Amino acid sequence: MSKGPVRTAIFPVAGLGTRFLPATKATPKELLPVLDTPLIQFAIDEARDAGVERMVFVSHPSKSAIERYVMDDAELRATLRDRGKAKLARDLHKAAIDEDDHEVTFVMQHDPLGLGHAVLCARDAVLPGPVAVILPDDLIVGQKGCLSEMIAAYQDIAAGHLVATINVPRQEVSKYGILSVVGQTGPFTKADGMVEKPDPKDTPSTTAVVGRYVLDPCIFDALARQTPGAGGEVQLTDAIAKDILTTGLAGFQFSGQRFDCGTKQGMLSAMLHLARHDPAFDDVLGVFLNQNPTPNAA
Ligand code: G1P
Repeated sequence: MSKGPVRTAIFPVAGLGTRFLPATKATPKELLPVLDTPLIQFAIDEARDAGVERMVFVSHPSKSAIERYVMDDAELRATLRDRGKAKLARDLHKAAIDEDDHEVTFVMQHDPLGLGHAVLCARDAVLPGPVAVILPDDLIVGQKGCLSEMIAAYQDIAAGHLVATINVPRQEVSKYGILSVVGQTGPFTKADGMVEKPDPKDTPSTTAVVGRYVLDPCIFDALARQTPGAGGEVQLTDAIAKDILTTGLAGFQFSGQRFDCGTKQGMLSAMLHLARHDPAFDDVLGVFLNQNPTPNAA
């Protein structure tokens, strides 16, 4: 059954980034760099590779730097060219969203009412058909873009909602949306429920959702009816769970590696992972890898 193409990617980027204060006091967390590339750039590249037509950023008025970052800056490029830095100008052009190729919309989420509320804010800005949601905090690197894999897989399954999943240690389930698993076929997990941040002792499984979703457009009606859940926020998880019997939900094990760049440990791991694949960092990494652990202060 064809579900129609996934034409829109929604990027919820309104969050305060409290876990990265003080760095995020004046810089949106989505612009924190993994080595030299801001998190949001990885998300944009993933959406572009997956062939979406429109990108909708659900942002906050205090985070206007995101808009400045993602859009092309022809003046800056001209200045760089005048100063003999033509390659840098070209690289910037390539990274930015070109409005000839992709439509871009910014909608504001004024109050921090949750991920579900953020997605609902995008409702009037999306193109018809299923939508993708990308949480830039979850950096996924690999041979193939996670969203490209999911969009290809989405057309082959009966379920209307598809979420990216990983298996997590039981003690970590309270950080994630967790699937109630009823079966596994290849990379797909069939689910008959989903719960946001359960207590480890009540968790239905250890199959956790990470920040990539392909959602049937009926999600917007479900979100409009959704009351606040865990943490007093409108949860995307609850809206997906609500019409699970009619719409269907599958989890998808992607091939790439995921880093939780919403935490310092995840951010550092992502940087080390990328650095390990770039000879420019061999010397620096060599020094750290050959060093003995810092002795405890006496
Ligand atoms: C959000 C979702 C959660 C999901 C997680 C993935 O939680 O609500 O279901 O598992 O992203 O990163 P947050 O990390 O914003 O608390």
